[in-house]
Amino acid sequence: MPGIHLSTTFERAPDGTFPSGYAYVRDGNPNRQALESALAQLEGGAAAVTFASGMAATMAVLQALSPGDHVVAPLDAYFGTAKLLGDHFARWGLEASFADLTDAAALRAALRPNTRLVWTETPSNPNIAVTDLRAVVEIARGAGALTACDNTWATPFLQRPLELGVDVVMHSTTKYLSGHSDVMGGAVITRETGPLSERLRALQGTGGAVPSPFDCWLVLRGIRTLPWRMRAHCANAQRIADRLSSHPGVERVHYPGLPSDPGHAVAARQMAAPGGMLSFVVPGGRARAFEVAARLRLFTRATSLGGPESLVEHRASIEGEKTRAPEGLLRLSIGLEHPDDLVADLEQALR
Ligand SMILES: Cc1ncc(COP(=O)(O)O)c(C=O)c1O
Repeated sequence: MPGIHLSTTFERAPDGTFPSGYAYVRDGNPNRQALESALAQLEGGAAAVTFASGMAATMAVLQALSPGDHVVAPLDAYFGTAKLLGDHFARWGLEASFADLTDAAALRAALRPNTRLVWTETPSNPNIAVTDLRAVVEIARGAGALTACDNTWATPFLQRPLELGVDVVMHSTTKYLSGHSDVMGGAVITRETGPLSERLRALQGTGGAVPSPFDCWLVLRGIRTLPWRMRAHCANAQRIADRLSSHPGVERVHYPGLPSDPGHAVAARQMAAPGGMLSFVVPGGRARAFEVAARLRLFTRATSLGGPESLVEHRASIEGEKTRAPEGLLRLSIGLEHPDDLVADLEQALR
């Protein structure tokens, strides 16, 4: 196993060079280098730049643009991303529009002459909507804009956006990549090296929102079991989606593994499997959703996703007044427990 290099500084040779290849921990460190190399290979990119959180990674991509540029983002973007664009970057002079990116006409209508970036997130939160990345890339390229994809939910095991023509992939490594709910991190992977990857590298070192050596070590350790964890997350999620979709106490299930799901065909084309996240709506709104969540015993009521333990969350109350999540919706991060136990827990909670 790789060691953990805690040194913050590295010795110069008599001629002033750095024989280790490193100078100061904010600019680079062996553990960060190892993680970045693994992430670039997994996504099929030329360069990976890691950060202290997913939000810091998103922030760097947006900071790599310039005031006066315009960004199109999905209507159902992760609420932190929407908040960054709507609150923070609006003051910085970055323009943003939100559109339904599963609808090509809506994307075309949102484009402006100064659109520099189309940000995608697929599958999305909390409706697990699937965006056709090839279709978005074609439209964005036609308008001279770059495309970014938040690939946190799918991971490179299920979806490789750079191969579909996307320019930039972003990850919250806090989720499936690390996979054990014990470390926070973020990453940006670019298809090519050039001005954008250099700017991201500069924002990492100068901005300083960097992951610690131990954080990098933990994410890399998690990645070693990524394929096996993802297979189990997906198999468990499919079992649960199948069961919930025929349950009389459930109004609607959002999971692209269901043939009736609007994202089914695109997911079958662009993903190796439909993922470990699903959501469902119960009749009776917030009160009934709270009741069901409280009755679950195996699912922990907590935010986040991608760990070994199954989680349940009422998104509308987490996201606050700007939420687009229905009051009766519960989001599930399906863990690695035995699927019979997960199904039994949901059945007793819905009784
Ligand atoms: C899709 C998605 N993107 C970005 C983030 C933000 O990542 P972090 O919490 O590591 O800052 C999250 C966190 O939940 C997420 O689910």
